[in-house]
Amino acid sequence: MRRAFRAPQGPALTQAALAPADSGRGGFIGLRVSEVTPVADDAVAVSFDLSPEQERRFDFQAGQHLTLRLVTAGVELRRTYSICVPPGHGRLTIGVRKLPGGAFSTFVHDQLRVGDVLEVMEPAGHFTVALDPQARHNYVAVAAGSGVTPVISILETVLERERHSQATLLYGNRTVGSTMFLDQLADLKDRHPGRFQLVEFFSRERQQVEFLNGRLDQAKVAQAANALLDIERVDNWLICGPHPMLAGVRRALEQLGVPADRVRSELFFVEDAPPERTQAVQQALARPGEAMVTARLDGRETTFAMERSAAIVDGLLRTRGDAPFSCKGGVCATCRARLVEGEVAMDHTYALEPREREDGFILTCQAHPLSDRVVVDYDA
Ligand code: FES
Repeated sequence: MRRAFRAPQGPALTQAALAPADSGRGGFIGLRVSEVTPVADDAVAVSFDLSPEQERRFDFQAGQHLTLRLVTAGVELRRTYSICVPPGHGRLTIGVRKLPGGAFSTFVHDQLRVGDVLEVMEPAGHFTVALDPQARHNYVAVAAGSGVTPVISILETVLERERHSQATLLYGNRTVGSTMFLDQLADLKDRHPGRFQLVEFFSRERQQVEFLNGRLDQAKVAQAANALLDIERVDNWLICGPHPMLAGVRRALEQLGVPADRVRSELFFVEDAPPERTQAVQQALARPGEAMVTARLDGRETTFAMERSAAIVDGLLRTRGDAPFSCKGGVCATCRARLVEGEVAMDHTYALEPREREDGFILTCQAHPLSDRVVVDYDA
């Protein structure tokens, strides 16, 4: 029997009034939990049962993520979790680490059971790779903590579908016990002997090889790259982890002369305090009057007036409950859209790659209209 979806504090849940279920890109679909499996001391993998129709709607690319919604006592919580299995096997599984004080992850760890139904948005995200079965690519992934979640999906996929490609994972954790997916990674090595190399670093547990002790930061990655890799031959760098680690690895690769177009990254967590708004943005936002914004979403256009101090996704949410968002902090890119017309000012853009910005993509949870008229396209 299907059990009710339960809230962290115990009160009964009601369907969220804020966003309709099952309504295109920003809508939610109820998926039944089929398995909750420990994958580290403080992390679990949550798998879902899919009907044939749901299998079609939840078709995904390796590296994509799911946004989950929990409504408790009238308050809506949304969290984004990466898919940790390869596509094409009829499975849909996410990895969830329990965060101190994290309402959603605590619920998943302490209360979620097989048979519960979770509200889930269709897969999204652009931390993906273009597969070529004939290619002889050399992938290097650098992951810290739960940042391994999308990486394991990508590496398993490329090793399976690109029979001549090779992959290395530089994987940083605090301890062996806190390391997610150790068994799956060992299995990956067994299935692809000679094509997959795993190098583990621990910051709070000593290993005999001194080089493997410490955080996976700028210096460590530079050291590892020089000692273990033929840098010239690496054509795909994939970085996933918290903000300071990501910035450090990018600096290391820049200093090693790695071309920027070989580096992809996905931010998992922002620990630092967000930077102050720049003066230019503050001045721009102080402009009087409202802006007219048109948003294309799921093939439908909506035009509305909004104050410049508000974020575009919040303006859209007043009339379109299906406007896609999750973190509202510039981290997850669920709210990404292309700026088709006009000008905007953005606060934090952690989730945008430089090339996405060049291509005109914005994060609508961070974007304020500067021009009198703005057009954004969520379908782009
Ligand atoms: S909602 Fe997460 S970046 Fe905008």
